[in-house]
This record gives sequence, C-alpha cells and structure tokens, in this order.
Amino acid sequence: MRRKWWIAGLLQALAVWNIIEAQIRYTIPEELNEGTVVGNIAKDLDLKLSEVFERNLRIASESGKQYFGVDSAKGELVVSERIDRETLCSQSATCLLPLEAIVENPLQLYRVEIEIQDINDNSPVFQNNEKVLNIAESTAPGARFRLESAKDPDIGSNSLHSYVLNKNEHFILSVKNKDGTKIPELVLEKALDREKESSHNLLLTAVDGATPARSGTATIIIRVQDSNDNSPVFEKPSYKTRVPENTPKGTVILTVKAIDSDEGVNSELTYSFEPDTPMSIQHVFSIDSELGAISVKDVLDFETVSSFKFEVIATDKGASPLEGLCSVEIEILDVNDNVPEILLKSVPKPVREDAPLGTVVALIGAKDSDSGENGKVHLRIQPGLPFTLKPSISNYYALVTDSYLDQETFPKYTVEITAQDSGSPLLESKTQISVDVLDVNDNPPVFPHSSYTVYVKENEGAGNVLFTVSAFDPDQGENAKVSYSVLDSQIKGISVSSYFYINSDNGSIYAMHSFDYEKMKVFQIQVQAKDHGSPSLSSNATVHVFILDQNDNAPAVIYPSAVMGSASHQRMPRSAKAGHLVTKVTAVDADSGHNAWISYRLAEAADASLFSVNLHTGEVRTKRSVSEQDDSSQRLLIEIKDNGEPVQSTTVTVDVLIEDGFHEPVSDYRKKSAEVSKKSGKITLYLIISLASVSLLCLMTFFILLVKCARGSRGSSSCCIRRSESGYKNPNRNLQIQLNTDGPIKYVEVLGGDMMSQSQSFGSYLSPMSEFSDFTLVKPSSTTDFTDTLNVLDASLPDSTWKFESQQVRINAELICTRE
Ligand SMILES: *[C@@H]1O[C@H](CO)[C@@H](O)[C@H](O)[C@H]1NC(C)=O
Ligand SMILES: *[C@@H]1O[C@H](CO)[C@@H](O)[C@H](O)[C@H]1NC(C)=O
Repeated sequence: MRRKWWIAGLLQALAVWNIIEAQIRYTIPEELNEGTVVGNIAKDLDLKLSEVFERNLRIASESGKQYFGVDSAKGELVVSERIDRETLCSQSATCLLPLEAIVENPLQLYRVEIEIQDINDNSPVFQNNEKVLNIAESTAPGARFRLESAKDPDIGSNSLHSYVLNKNEHFILSVKNKDGTKIPELVLEKALDREKESSHNLLLTAVDGATPARSGTATIIIRVQDSNDNSPVFEKPSYKTRVPENTPKGTVILTVKAIDSDEGVNSELTYSFEPDTPMSIQHVFSIDSELGAISVKDVLDFETVSSFKFEVIATDKGASPLEGLCSVEIEILDVNDNVPEILLKSVPKPVREDAPLGTVVALIGAKDSDSGENGKVHLRIQPGLPFTLKPSISNYYALVTDSYLDQETFPKYTVEITAQDSGSPLLESKTQISVDVLDVNDNPPVFPHSSYTVYVKENEGAGNVLFTVSAFDPDQGENAKVSYSVLDSQIKGISVSSYFYINSDNGSIYAMHSFDYEKMKVFQIQVQAKDHGSPSLSSNATVHVFILDQNDNAPAVIYPSAVMGSASHQRMPRSAKAGHLVTKVTAVDADSGHNAWISYRLAEAADASLFSVNLHTGEVRTKRSVSEQDDSSQRLLIEIKDNGEPVQSTTVTVDVLIEDGFHEPVSDYRKKSAEVSKKSGKITLYLIISLASVSLLCLMTFFILLVKCARGSRGSSSCCIRRSESGYKNPNRNLQIQLNTDGPIKYVEVLGGDMMSQSQSFGSYLSPMSEFSDFTLVKPSSTTDFTDTLNVLDASLPDSTWKFESQQVRINAELICTRE
C-alpha cells in the first residue's frame, strides 16, 4: 500500500517535472511466462521503430524489480520475470504495477500502468489438515463445534467460496460469516452413542468459487467420550443349576456374568445378592463380587430345603451406578446321606419257650430321612434264628417266632437287625436286641443212667450213705428243682422204706439196717426224681444193691456129728494097713466164695505119725499099718478153716478106738464098705445124672428164655431177663433166672454179670443130710468160668453128651438142689 502511494507520488512529481500527457495502461494476467508480449509500447507512445533504438526507449520500475523489458527491435513490452499477483498485491482487489517508459533526445517520461489480473492459482488450504474433537456421548443434539477455516490467497471468485462436509449420520455443517470470513461449524444433529461407534471420521472440504474450482480438505476425527449410559446386562436372565446335597463348602456351583457396554469404570462390575434376598439364603451361598461365582457356604441339606431361588445384581462403578439383575435357581439333589434308623417301639418281651409260631416278640420301625430310593428301607435279621420279620403297617415290622423255641438250648437270642436303604451307595445300620426265652417245665429230671449198681458189705452200713443218685433237670428255677424219693415196693414181704431212706434234696440213699448176705443177696430200689414245676415231671431209676459176702460164718461140722463138747468115736481094726480110711470129716460154711472154701488139718494127735487128714476132702486115713505097740485109743483134733479174711475156724475131736478083735466087722465093714462104695458110686452116679439133668434143664431154660427175649418179644411174661436185648452177649449185663419147681430143685438162680471178681460163684451144694458120709461137693473157684464149672461136672459125668460152648458168658450160678 505504501509502495503504491509512493509510486503515485513519484509519478505526480514527474508529471510536474516533465510534461507527460500520455497515460498507457496494459492489463495482463499474472503468472505469464518470460518473453510474453504485453503490448507494442513504441506504437502506443507514437514512436517510430527507428526512434526506439535511437532514443533509447527503456522501462524503469519504481520498485527494484524489473518485471518488464522492451524488445527494441519490435518496440514491444515483454515480461521479463514471472509475476505473482498475490506476492505483489496480496489481497488487494486491483493490482497495478506502475512503470515508466523513458526516451532520450528529448528526454521524455511516460507513465505506463500494468494491471495484473488474478488467476485461480491457489487452492483453499486448512492450516491443520487433521482435527480431533472429543465429544461426550451424552451431548445433546444442536451443539456446535467450531472448526478451522481454510485460507485461499486468491481474490474474488477465485478465493474461498464454500465448505462441504461429507455426509454422515450425526453432524451437519453450518458456516458463519464473520467479517467476511467464512467460519465452518459442526452441528450435532443426532445424539452420539459410544457403544455403537466410538469415533467418527469427517472430511471437511473447502472450495473456491472459480471454475474449475479448487479445493482443500481437512479430516475431523470425533472421539465419542463414554458416559455411564448402559446398565450391566446378564448373559442369561435366569440361571439354573442342580447340586448334590453333599457338595462341600466352598465349592463354586455357578458363575453368573453380566456385561456392561460402557467403558472403563462404567463397565467395571460388582456382583451381589439382591438386597431383599433373605438372610437364610445368604447364609448358605456366597457370591464373589468380582467374578460372580456363587459358592456353597454352609451345609446343604435336601431334607431341609430342596431348592433355592434368589436374585443377583451386577452394579457398575460409574459415577451414577447402574445395575442389572438376574435370577438364580439352585435345586438340591438328594444324596443318600442319611443312614436308615431302626426304631424300637418297645423293649422286646420275653417269650415262653412253648410260644406258638407267630408270637410277636417286638415291634420294630424303620426310618430314612432321604427321599425316593434313598429313603426306601427294608429290615432283615441274621439267618439261623427262630424269628422272622413280618411287615406290618407302614415301615413297621413285627418280629415273630417262626420255629419252636427251647429255653434249654438257647435261653437267650441276640437278634441283629439290619436296616438298609435302596440308595446308591447302600447305607445300613444295625442294632441288636436280645430276646429272653422263658422257661416252661418241659423237661423231666433225668438220671444219667437208668440203673445203678451198689455193693454193700454185709453187716455194715447201717445209717451210712449207700449211694447218691442225682438227676438233672435242664429247666430253670422251680422247674429244675428236683426232689428224690424211693418208690415203695416189697423186699421179702417188707416195705423197702424200712430198709432205705433217701434224702429228698440231694438223693443220698441211706441204709437203715445192715444186711446179711446169707439172707439176702440182692435187691432193687426204684428211685424217683421229681421236679417242682407245675405240673411236675418225674423219672425213675433202679438201684441194684448187691450185698457182698463177708467171712462172718465159721465152718460148721456136719460129720462126724458130735454131742456138744464131746468127741465123736470111731473104730478101726488093728490090722488096718496104711491108707485105711478111718473117717471123713465134713464141714460146711454158710459164707460163699473164698469165705466158704474149707480146708482140713490135723491139729493135734496122740501119735502124729499114724494119721493124716486130707486137706481138701477131710478124709482121715492111716499113714502106716497099725502095730501092736500103738495105743488102742487115739484122740485126733482136726481143725477146719475157711479161706476168708479173717480166717474163721472150728475144730472137731475124733477119738479113734483101735480094736484087736475087730476083724469081722472090719471085713464086714470092708465088704460093706465095698458095697457101700458100690452103692455110693451108684448114688454118686444118680446124683451126677440128676445134677446134670438139672443143669441141662437150667441151661435149656436159660437158652429158651434167652432166645425168646433176644427175638425181641417185648414184655413177654416168660422173660424175666432185664435188658433182654443184649444180656447174653454183653457180659456187663445182669442175668437172672429163677425157677421154682416142685421137683428136687427148690431154687435155681442164675446171675450173669461182672461180679465174678466178687464172691458170687457157681456152685452146687449137696447137703449130706443122711447118715451116710457119701456125698460129692463140687465147689469150683469163684473165678472159674461157668464152663469150667461145667467141665468139672463133665469130668464127673463121663457119659455127658452136652457141652457148653460160650466162653464169653460169665455166669454166676448157684444151684441148690436138695435131696429129700
Ligand atoms: C445230702 O445231705 C445230707 C444232709 O444234709 C448230707 O449228710 C449228705 O452228705 C448229702 N449228700 C451229698 C452227696 O452231698
Ligand atoms: C416210675 O415208677 C412209678 C411206680 O412204678 C410209675 O407209676 C411211674 O409211671 C414211673 N415213672 C416213669 C417216668 O416211668
């Protein structure tokens, strides 16, 4: 501007100085190339072409820069340097470049003006081609945001004309004109949503007014600032899960998750129970506030609560927090965690042992708090008991008897009851009850043996305990209390109770008298044991009492019979030779066995060399021939001893008269003696035959009885053998045969048994009651078998045709045959 002014002033001074009329003006556009002809200045100055050179036409510029020159050959004004209007004139509407054309001879000054016209050589330009705007998403529509304006150095229509904003959803452009400057503004037309689009890129274009227009652009980046405008939202509106009731504490059973579409703290969430959630639920579960994990905090029990329903909220951490909500349903699954219980309704009653089948002993219930199969209980008892469980009303069982009881075998039962549910795994519990069995008097007292054998020495035992019987009763109490008694019977016409007494409490049997073997050898007592039950039961036993012989009888001399105190007189001839039988002493002993074995001994004699006594037979014989020197009267003292302990003895005095003239009688005697011996031999034979026949009869009877009894006839009247089954074969059994006939046999008693060691023996006694000294006495040893005895008999009976074979049977037999 200043320069303009300065150029104008100068031109005026020159005008004053030189009269310069002409005013030449050229108009050119800017940016012409060098050499471009502006105009024919020589012609315009009215100069001849020759004058151009001669007068030295030249162009002077007021500014230092020479934009123009003169082509002296053509007289044309040409551009010598490129001109930029914007540099030269800036924003001025007109741009005039004053020049001076100078010619010499005469010096003349011409004013030349060159108007430089604008061309659209500049585009609008934004100073910053990128702009960032931060806008809160909560900003209301209508809000304006000022933008930077663009610059275009061109003028007029070549300068900035308008702005254009690319099309977008949220913003429009508004342009304000302020002091001729157009200022673009963004106007929010539609609210922003960061959650939809967190940034927007806009393009602002500035356009000039030329044709063709030039433009410049700037990018506007809009960053949407988050605001807490979104509530947390759960992934699912409701959660559902099932957990077994035995889930341990601390187990995470469910995780809820919510999402907040906001940003930063606005999207940071915390989880919690909805405030109205009952404390009972909050005690059982806990929620991790950060993670939303729901875990078990307390013991779950299906039986108490089977399901839980509550709500969980998620809250963000925005300045004004927002929350979201979901519902949670937790179903508790039953686990077989309850052991079945056994309920005893009452203490089991004791049962009588005679209780009928099906008697109820106890009522037992079962309970299981679980449900379904887990709660289904069944009861059982251990096998092998006489009880069974009978289902009764709902879950109750009756323990009843299912077989007969016996208090004596099992006085008490321990019943183990097992309750088992049907769950998986099976749970069971056990309990024991004891059932007492009450005694009933169903057992009689029992003697260990049905018969007993007692041996009593004769002459002893009066007032002593002979024997003690004892019976056992397996029942209890009064039912097992036993009293003993002796059943009344007759022994030889006298009541047994006068012989024996029994202690009713302990079964001790006392003899009230002593016994005489010679009168009574054996008898039986029936003993009864009776319990105190009601009704009472009893059983019997037999006690066989054997009287044992004692040597209580001295031998008694039968022959020669002597008047008391005097001697018997025997005669013999002096002519007797050695071995002459003088007499025969005979004695008997009332005892039996060893006690009755008799031996004879010459105790005293006037001349011991003359006589001898046979130890066994008692025969008195001469040892030598009688001589003339021998006294005619000889006294002999013969001692007779038995074999008992202590020895009992007796003596007999025999006076022997030796007669000289006693020939006839002697021969007579001899003859007679021979006759007698013949006769006595006959008698002996008869005796033996009768004895043998008796023995045979006895034996036959014995065998017939034996066979009869052995053939199993029960209670046969002809069989009087007790224990008939095996009495013959078993030597331990007693045999007894009694025969009573009117014949010569008065009494036959056959006793079989083990008592051979005792003094029981077989023997035959032939009592020489006659005046004759002819007799046979067979008296075998007490230990001899019956067979031996028979052999002895056999030996004395050569024609015997029978034989006794059994070697097993030891029989005590006693035959007493009397000859009348
Ligand atoms: C039985 O009782 C009587 C009297 O009390 C007694 O003397 C006897 O010894 C008892 N017998 C037994 C085997 O205890
Ligand atoms: C015992 O003997 C008596 C008398 O003989 C009789 O009445 C009773 O029935 C017998 N008892 C038994 C159990 O045999």
